[in-house]
Amino acid sequence: GIDPNFDDNREKAGEENGLDVWGPVDPPEKLGIHGAHVAVDYDICIADGACLENCPVDVFDWVDTPDHPESERKVEPTREDQCIDCMLCVDICPVDAIDVDAS
Ligand code: SF4
Ligand code: F3S
Repeated sequence: GIDPNFDDNREKAGEENGLDVWGPVDPPEKLGIHGAHVAVDYDICIADGACLENCPVDVFDWVDTPDHPESERKVEPTREDQCIDCMLCVDICPVDAIDVDAS
């Protein structure tokens, strides 16, 4: 699953869609972790979609990731600033790709 200490263990590689991206990044096969308060490991996400469908405040958007080995699309936590720390997405993701820093 996603490393909950990614912000200590990884370098910031840039920004995408207004969100921090944490490396290593080597597209299209390695896309890193996207977000800060709500973070999605793009290299683990298999596009299950339960997070996006069930988030009570609609934090996530789909983005296309053609040629990524795990899935052709990912969820971007575009509205992470709206997150109410309910932890539903963390609990529901079948591959543990999401970290929410509720502290
Ligand atoms: Fe949405 Fe809850 Fe996940 Fe925050 S913790 S992104 S509110 S599902
Ligand atoms: Fe991806 Fe998990 Fe959501 S696989 S689409 S982060 S439920």
